[in-house]
Amino acid sequence: MSASVPALEIINLRKFFGGLPATQDVNLQVMPGERRLIIGPNGAGKTTLFNQITGDFLPTSGQIKLFGADITRMKPHERAHMGLSRTYQIITLFSKDTLVHNVTLGLLGLSPARWNLFKPLDHYQEMEVEARRVLGLVGLGSMADRLVSEIAYGQKRRVEIAMAMAQKPKLLLLDEPLAGLSAEERTTIKELIAAIPRETTLVMIEHDMDTALDLAETVTLLHYGKVIVDGQRDAVIADEKTREVYLGH
Ligand SMILES: Nc1ncnc2c1ncn2[C@@H]1O[C@H](COP(=O)(O)OP(=O)(O)O)[C@@H](O)[C@H]1O
Ligand SMILES: [Mg+2]
Repeated sequence: MSASVPALEIINLRKFFGGLPATQDVNLQVMPGERRLIIGPNGAGKTTLFNQITGDFLPTSGQIKLFGADITRMKPHERAHMGLSRTYQIITLFSKDTLVHNVTLGLLGLSPARWNLFKPLDHYQEMEVEARRVLGLVGLGSMADRLVSEIAYGQKRRVEIAMAMAQKPKLLLLDEPLAGLSAEERTTIKELIAAIPRETTLVMIEHDMDTALDLAETVTLLHYGKVIVDGQRDAVIADEKTREVYLGH
């Protein structure tokens, strides 16, 4: 694959909810290995953009390409197989289950709710070993058999990022990974994100600019569903339009 093919390309993307635009005429290019930060006020359309990239929502019009392949109409699991992974703004772990079971099911591509419908799978043991390894990588190896409900919020965030990384994604979308965390937990998550290898292209939505700007090379500002400013981090931050829309709040 040529280095000039973007990891992610968004062309004239629009999503309307009952006639109201959540994203409109969004055009974006993220190159392989890039660290992109998406900023913008609440309701700007950031999460809606992610939901369209993952296939949770179908766009009203426009096109989405992953490493040159048109994924606009693909199902979410098909996109996952092509190397797309995400975390959610709202943590989606099953709280009445153990960390290791949650991660194992995640690796198997099953939700805990669906798990009960199936007999144990051939790959379960194998994936459980992998799940324990992944939890070890984020410093939670000794807590693998604890219930999700018993661990701290920042630790859940770590489990979510670990699960997403365990798929060895080519493109990882992080939706507000630092939201709701203590200063200490933010530092831990920031280190975890900084350590993600360059083989994984990163697109991150985040409000905590102080922390997130350190991780970003390029920044896109969304406002009312539109890209207002887009480019190298320092240029976007210095742009008057950014100050007006975001930093002035
Ligand atoms: N499932 C949905 N149904 C209807 N409207 C939605 C839905 N999801 C988002 N919206 C609307 O789209 C706009 C953008 O929302 P969102 O993408 O969540 O913003 P952000 O993540 O930037 O805060 C908001 O006006 C929101 O109310
Ligand atoms: Mg959001």
